[in-house]
Amino acid sequence: MENSQKDVVILAIESSCDETAAAVVRNGREVLSNVISSQIALHTLYGGVVPEIASRKHIEKINQVIEEALTQAHLGLTEVDAIAVTYGPGLVGALLVGVAEAKAIAYAAGKPLIGVHHIEGHISANYIENRELEPPFLCLVVSGGHTHLVMVEDYGSYNIVGRTRDDAAGEAFDKVARAIGLGYPGGPKIEKISKEGNPEAIVFPRAKIADHPYDFSFSGVKSAVLNYINGCQMKQIPIVQADVAASFQKAVTDVLMEHAMTAVEEFQVDKFAIAGGVAANRTLRNGMREACEKKGVKFYYPSPILCTDNAAMIGAAAYYEYLAGRCDSWDLNAVPNLKLGER
Ligand code: KG4
Ligand code: ZN
Repeated sequence: MENSQKDVVILAIESSCDETAAAVVRNGREVLSNVISSQIALHTLYGGVVPEIASRKHIEKINQVIEEALTQAHLGLTEVDAIAVTYGPGLVGALLVGVAEAKAIAYAAGKPLIGVHHIEGHISANYIENRELEPPFLCLVVSGGHTHLVMVEDYGSYNIVGRTRDDAAGEAFDKVARAIGLGYPGGPKIEKISKEGNPEAIVFPRAKIADHPYDFSFSGVKSAVLNYINGCQMKQIPIVQADVAASFQKAVTDVLMEHAMTAVEEFQVDKFAIAGGVAANRTLRNGMREACEKKGVKFYYPSPILCTDNAAMIGAAAYYEYLAGRCDSWDLNAVPNLKLGER
């Protein structure tokens, strides 16, 4: 493959949770390969991600995944301009596998090393299929570990305008799915069964936080579902899984939409994006699309495969770090609780 002088090709690695992923991305927006080795089937046996098993699986798979990413991109390491890796936030043992691997490759191949924030990666997934998208824009990041409303002021420049006070949206999906017997991972299972349910069947709470219109709280809706299930069991009323799932999904997506649209208005943005695993949810995507259309705001969302964890999004984020001349030294370490905007 031709690599003209101006092109910047980045090999990106992601191993912060339960996907071992590598991708080759050209100029931040063109994905030459995007390889994901999912551990979901393994963790399903335990009802959630088991950190030590995740680390062990990453170490087993990472070399094959990287080799496959380079093969699919028809490139050798010498043709790559930089090595990027997620260095936080995430599970420390899982992150360490990717960071150690990226450092070894960068050192051996004599390439710059770029540490990427996982959330910055999720946000940057929007650049891949929307070549015209440029900051500033507002982005709702909804994943298993995070629920952030972020003002993307520029590439690499973020202002968090709202965040969850307790559970992340994806975490609530996973916990509720477990409670109603759907198992792990909760989000896709709740979405699927909700299609057969009535979203108005049960009214679950939509939490608001006084004086903080952009913050979220999902522990209340989760408890309400658990209480509802207990109540049904005590009264020996059968639980209609699909109705509980659809009503819960509606409660969560209503809150996400309401807070996001209040922020769109307040910050007077004309572009709004969603990102993270929960952004794959069709009720949320369709609701957000409609709400944005009503306000005349352009709506952006990644394909489902780019919503959940992947390395292409890390390559997209790393490109702008590379352009800004931000590279890391050999002492780059995993930072499990890394804050957005910190370096
Ligand atoms: O972004 P992600 O892959 O990993 C983290 O950074 O956390 O997000 C995973 C989360 C899980 O909680 C999963 O249940 C949720 O995203 N998720 C969904 C859907 N697909 C994944 N939630 C709702 N609907 C979906 N279709
Ligand atoms: Zn993620």
